[in-house]
Amino acid sequence: MTSTKFPLGGPSKVINTSGKSLPRIPLGQSQQVFSNKEIVYESEIMNKLMAMVDRVSPSNATVLVLGESGTGKELVAQAIHEKSKRSHKPFVAINCGALRETLLESELFGHEKGAFTGAYAQKIGLAEAANGGTLFLDEIGELTPGIQAKILRFLQEGEIYRVGGKEPIKVDVRLISATNRDLEKEVLDGTFREDLYYRINTIVVSTPPLRKRKEDIPALIDYFLTTGAHRYLNRGLKVSPEALQVLVNYDWPGNIRELQNVCERLQILSEGETVQITDLPEFVKTPEEKLFIDDYDPSITLHELERKYILKALSHFEGNKTQAAQALGVTIKTLYNKLHQYGEFDKFAIHSKT
Ligand SMILES: Nc1ncnc2c1ncn2[C@@H]1O[C@H](COP(=O)(O)OP(=O)(O)OP(=O)(O)O)[C@@H](O)[C@H]1O
Ligand SMILES: [Mg+2]
Repeated sequence: MTSTKFPLGGPSKVINTSGKSLPRIPLGQSQQVFSNKEIVYESEIMNKLMAMVDRVSPSNATVLVLGESGTGKELVAQAIHEKSKRSHKPFVAINCGALRETLLESELFGHEKGAFTGAYAQKIGLAEAANGGTLFLDEIGELTPGIQAKILRFLQEGEIYRVGGKEPIKVDVRLISATNRDLEKEVLDGTFREDLYYRINTIVVSTPPLRKRKEDIPALIDYFLTTGAHRYLNRGLKVSPEALQVLVNYDWPGNIRELQNVCERLQILSEGETVQITDLPEFVKTPEEKLFIDDYDPSITLHELERKYILKALSHFEGNKTQAAQALGVTIKTLYNKLHQYGEFDKFAIHSKT
């Protein structure tokens, strides 16, 4: 793992997305002005993603970042901003899921004095504060229809109205949005406007889940153990090869954020200079058996999948075979036969209620 700082040249593996201090604008709580962050990776899939970031950054195209929770969507948005011509202007982020509609509107577009009860003074909204820079709408799938319409108008016209304001205000921002929802499906379901969807997704960038880029895990662990909130505790902590294997094997459903949390715990709790298997949290050592697969997985046969599914159903119904068979849509006789086949019959004969 190398540690080249931004601005980048060449294929550095650690990318500092900032390096500059941006003006802090005293605004609402949901605002985050971008700070010094790094993107660490080794995998080919992330290499490709970062090449994509390099390609799309110089343009003003809207970007939609798709990915599971904790996969680095916001980090990618920040990187796009920092590599764009707008990098000397603000990167302003707002979480669309965190505020109810009326509050979100006044956070985003600001309000005039007296626009509503409690509007004692004029307030500049985040879109205006981002003028010249990048506006990052996180969790865009959470937007209500009313706000969707207002954002669409803003994107089409390039101007906003403060709440209670009569005059349009020209605002030039590049929009990056992110979601972990299936927006295409929401468009089909009618919960997300199709015209807005096409406005925000000129370029789509997907941040892959950590389980699909396990090559990144050792580099990320190294990085999180030496940086982060508890770096003052840094004792040159290393990870034993056995413990590293367990960490790589784990599927990380919470992705990089989960790995980051585990590393923080290790920084605080592990004794000695090397993390051993015994130092690892229980859920990492003995993960819930994986059942659902989001892609074809050559290591799982249909037989194995069926076995796991039936056993899960039985444990869900606390060993009640009649209920499990009913829910699975098979006869009780079929269920008995399957359990015999799997060599699990005796176990469930003991626990069963029927
Ligand atoms: N490749 C990476 N290298 C270093 N740190 C990373 C990397 N990817 C993500 N992180 C860190 O992991 C945490 C989660 O990333 P981020 O907030 O960007 O994810 P997200 O996809 O926006 O998550 P959510 O869906 O929960 O909002 C952050 O602290 C971020 O700095
Ligand atoms: Mg996020």
